[in-house]
Amino acid sequence: MSNNALTKRPEWLALENHFKEMEDVPLRALFADDPSRFDHFHLRLDGLLFDYSKHKINARTKALLCALARACDVEGWRARMLSGAAINTTENRAVLHMALRGSTPEGLEVDGENVTDFVQDTLALIKTTSERVRADKSITDVVNIGIGGSDLGPRMMCRALIASADGPNIHFISNIDGDALSLLLGKLNPHSTVFLIASKTFNTLETLTNTAAARDWLLAALGPDKVYDHFLTMTANPEAALKFGIAPANILLLRNWIGGRYSLWGATGLALAIACGFEVFNDMLKGAAVADRHFIQSPLEENIPVLMALIGIWYRNFWKYDALAILPYAQSLEILPSYIQQLDMESNGKGAGKNGETLDYQTGPVVFGETGSNAQHAFMQLLHQSRQVIPAEFIAIAGAHHGMKAHHMALFGNALAQSKALMDGLENTSEPCKNFPGNRPSSTLILDQLDAYHLGMLLALYEHKIAVQGAIWNINSFDQWGVELGKSIADALIKDFDNDTRNTCTDSSTAGLAQYFREKFIKS
Ligand code: F6P
Repeated sequence: MSNNALTKRPEWLALENHFKEMEDVPLRALFADDPSRFDHFHLRLDGLLFDYSKHKINARTKALLCALARACDVEGWRARMLSGAAINTTENRAVLHMALRGSTPEGLEVDGENVTDFVQDTLALIKTTSERVRADKSITDVVNIGIGGSDLGPRMMCRALIASADGPNIHFISNIDGDALSLLLGKLNPHSTVFLIASKTFNTLETLTNTAAARDWLLAALGPDKVYDHFLTMTANPEAALKFGIAPANILLLRNWIGGRYSLWGATGLALAIACGFEVFNDMLKGAAVADRHFIQSPLEENIPVLMALIGIWYRNFWKYDALAILPYAQSLEILPSYIQQLDMESNGKGAGKNGETLDYQTGPVVFGETGSNAQHAFMQLLHQSRQVIPAEFIAIAGAHHGMKAHHMALFGNALAQSKALMDGLENTSEPCKNFPGNRPSSTLILDQLDAYHLGMLLALYEHKIAVQGAIWNINSFDQWGVELGKSIADALIKDFDNDTRNTCTDSSTAGLAQYFREKFIKS
């Protein structure tokens, strides 16, 4: 596609015109016009319900959005992704996390390696390693050291499924703030603790710094002979892991065609398999595979992730909404907003198109969120009454394992009440502070159960949603160059702290702040 061709497409222009027809139509009017609107605008997929009726769309909007997706060749792009084409163009890599769930064609090869064979070997190793760790009663605690995609996936899943965890205690260390690690180590016994070093590159400052500190802690208690028995790693850089000292049998491999934020489905998910057992990990893969099949086979009009993506584009580019709220109504999904935030913002927070052109349209929204009903007592005020409209995605669970029926009815009832309040609003002309403008859109996703299978399905749907948006926006959703500049400046600054920061701090603000830090911390 040539520079900024997207906004010149007839399908885009048709949506611009259609927006003018829709902009003054209240959501309530759409429901009044069509008493069966819910029937027309919801989809079901094996224990998951997606309601998109509370959106500012009608049948024509949907048709125009699907026409845009077809014009942008979403289907062709999906086929290229599945065929192992290097659609991550800036890094010249295939994008095959779907292979980890068995969703890519048999016989696919990347760099001369059979992808299915690699996946089978990895799964076998996750199984045997997790079983070995779980069976070893001398291991009481497992610490996953990793950051970003090497942390959020396993952290989120282990938190979500904590009720069914029956393995050793699992802990997560991500930040380079030494407080976190020292506090945790203070509570652990080096003899019974194993560290999982999750790092695709084995070259990430936070992870390497925390790993070195963990080694020192083990060394002091166990001596040099035993230290490396307490390390496992999940990485695409085995050479660096070997150099660090990790035994070959303790290295679980990733490949370059597995992006960091998509690596939960492979070796990076080891912590989940250790916490809950390999079967649970495998259930997650099975759920994701169901979502993959749906994404690959369903026509765009009935394709949940495609519709999620298109509704997001409708709001971002035509209604000019800047943000998206992720609201899971389940406390055990408290990490999910952060997980989706990385997935979305690291993938689609891009300003240059695939041909290097500066885009003349917006891409990914600001994604934030919190569990309900906590969010209602924190930031939902702004969603209800500020002048900004922020579309929301409610995630609710139909069933509950605990026996607390009253709790669960209140939790679910609150989720429904919020989406209804956002949509309906409440007019109060005499007391403006009690006026709710309403007409604020949301989706509701209901999972039948909060388990690995349904979560696998949900996460894969989000992955596909975000990737489809990237395909339409003509950006590379699979690189993350935006994180690099800060990393390199930090590297230089940290090295200079002990000596002289004048070379790295070329502006007076950074120089003044560094000087203050040197006086308060380094010189004291
Ligand atoms: O900072 C960006 C990033 O590259 C993420 O995309 C990635 O998940 C994270 O850092 C960790 O990287 P690694 O697994 O290589 O340590």
